Amino acid sequence: MRQTIPVLALLITAIVIMSDANAETVALTSPNKALSLTFSDDEQLARYTLTRKGKPIVAPSKLGFTFEKARPMYRDFLLSEVSRDQHDSEWEQPWGEQRIIRNHYNEVVVKFSHVSDKTRFFTIRARAFNEGVAFRYELAGQGDLTITRELTEFTLPDSHLATAYWIPGQGRERYEYLYRKTPLQQVAKAHTPFTVSYKDGSYIAIHEAALVDYAGMSLDKQEVGRFVASLAPRADGTLVRKQGDFVTPWRTITVGDEAVDLVNSLMALNLNEPNALGNVDWVVPGKYIGIWWGMHIGKFTWGAGEKHGATTERTLDYINFAAKYGFDGVLVEGWNTGWDGNWIANSELFSFTESYADFDINKVAEHAKSKGVKLVGHHETSGGITNYEAQMEDGFALYQQLGVSQIKTGYVAHGQNLKRRDENGIMRYEFTDSQDVVNHFIHNVKTAAKYELSINTHESVKDTGLRRTYPNWISRESARGQEYNSGWAKPNPPEHIPMLAFTRMLAGPMDFTPGIFDFDYPDLNTGGGPEWGEHSYMRPHSTLARQLAQYVVIYSPIQMAADLPENYLDKPDAFTFIQDVPTDWEQSIALQGEVGDFIVFARQEKQHKHYSGEDWYLGAITDEHAREISVPLTFLSEGAAYEAQIYRDADETNWQTNPYAMVIEQRRVTRDDTINVKLSAAGGLAVRFKKL
Ligand code: NOJ
Repeated sequence: MRQTIPVLALLITAIVIMSDANAETVALTSPNKALSLTFSDDEQLARYTLTRKGKPIVAPSKLGFTFEKARPMYRDFLLSEVSRDQHDSEWEQPWGEQRIIRNHYNEVVVKFSHVSDKTRFFTIRARAFNEGVAFRYELAGQGDLTITRELTEFTLPDSHLATAYWIPGQGRERYEYLYRKTPLQQVAKAHTPFTVSYKDGSYIAIHEAALVDYAGMSLDKQEVGRFVASLAPRADGTLVRKQGDFVTPWRTITVGDEAVDLVNSLMALNLNEPNALGNVDWVVPGKYIGIWWGMHIGKFTWGAGEKHGATTERTLDYINFAAKYGFDGVLVEGWNTGWDGNWIANSELFSFTESYADFDINKVAEHAKSKGVKLVGHHETSGGITNYEAQMEDGFALYQQLGVSQIKTGYVAHGQNLKRRDENGIMRYEFTDSQDVVNHFIHNVKTAAKYELSINTHESVKDTGLRRTYPNWISRESARGQEYNSGWAKPNPPEHIPMLAFTRMLAGPMDFTPGIFDFDYPDLNTGGGPEWGEHSYMRPHSTLARQLAQYVVIYSPIQMAADLPENYLDKPDAFTFIQDVPTDWEQSIALQGEVGDFIVFARQEKQHKHYSGEDWYLGAITDEHAREISVPLTFLSEGAAYEAQIYRDADETNWQTNPYAMVIEQRRVTRDDTINVKLSAAGGLAVRFKKL
């Protein structure tokens, strides 16, 4: 430990930088000893490093803050250790990709105090898990603070040997970008989760956990290999305003020998606070259909008129379809007034309680009840936060009274264009991940809980594991989903899902809305053309088998069957898989894959109502390259036999010319077998292993 340094010496060291010999270092190792996270005050700067099996993962990187009115916390700070702890427990998710989760870490708390003014200090709480490390700042006794910079750095050594997979941070399209694969050195400002692979085959992902009353973090490149936290600014240009003591979100670094190690980590959930809502039996996973895709392909409209989608008649039909084919819910978009004209620009016109004349909300709700189907609510705000907050409770009360238990919300507005009136009535324009908007999302979810409603947020701030604390935050979008394949934008390229699996999906569930069965809607397209090159195919860049595989590969406790009901009736054999596949899992294992190339997932169903808990499902998806995959079935139970119901691309499947060709076959298998299957370009594989 550091020897006590007399005050005079401290004054001298304030001028003469302290020699290395005097520097204090505190190390924290993971339970398996592979990771070592070190804090030091070398040169009287607050810094950390991370090594894995002795190899540097993060080179010395700054910690600290600058503030609007208070003095910075960074230079002339000395380190001391406060406490250590160890933790190993298990907890159960009410729903999830994995029912039981182990929370196993070593912890250290360190304090960085100013050399002379001991009232100025910040504390770092750090945890080392076997699969990664996390730390957060805890500020106490510092009064009210307005953060103008968070100085946290991530200095990645060997950057010339690294490849990054990323989307731009704080851009116009929020999180709805195609992922880029570039040398690490070419990254500018990136959102998290931010995934990096190294020439030696190892991987890291940088992200954050428990984003509460703070701004979302992007990573801003300062120089080769050195990134600094970039917090989404508030409308007034500051970053975060805090009154009294606070903690920041956790900064997380997950590491792996293989890409799938990142996917199999649930560290971010462990870093969030336990369920704050008590009994959440009313939060129910399941599958839904909706009056939705019709609007995206131009067949229906959200607003009033001849093509109005949300009519009473059509909703009754959809409810009947849902009841007949075992769906839990029917989403209805465009039932409420405010959609006419340019709805994206007119956020203040949305009503959350008033229906269009051709939509009898009481009648459809009654019918849904009589059929044992739930209406799924919809609140599109177009980013009009103040308009929504003013009506939110009325909207929730109405839905609760109608028997609704889930609401899809939407915030269609470009980056830094969410509208919030301040206390003086002045309209402010905010980022999706600025502090006030982060708080709005949490306020929305907490208020919904009072009405026993779950929320599926579209155009949401990124997921940071808050579903543990608020299990009614049941899903979200926060990436380009299936809707991009509907004709109003360049479709997602085949590598998009293998990219999502190792980037966006590290954060948590995504309401991607899989299951398009009819790809041929060219006359309904609104844009595109040959100048879009490979994108000129205005439809999912997908085979039919891949649409099924999405239900296993892309995790969400609520999954949509996104296409028009009639398109499912046209392909009843393929539809069987959507009817069978559950959305709640006992366990999930990412088995194989490479970022942006392919992904193979196995999931065991959770025992529940119609599900025995004995069956397993497999999903595989490839990029634009056909590939053979070979999957040993070692995840199946010992001594058990299964009927493998296989939905695979056929030899003649071609996503451009023959996308619907699919082989459905059955085979008896045990855990000693291996499945060898060829995925066609933009193809996929879906398997149900039904226990015999
Ligand atoms: C964007 C959402 O992602 C989409 O699903 C929805 O249909 C539209 N906004 C309208 O709310």
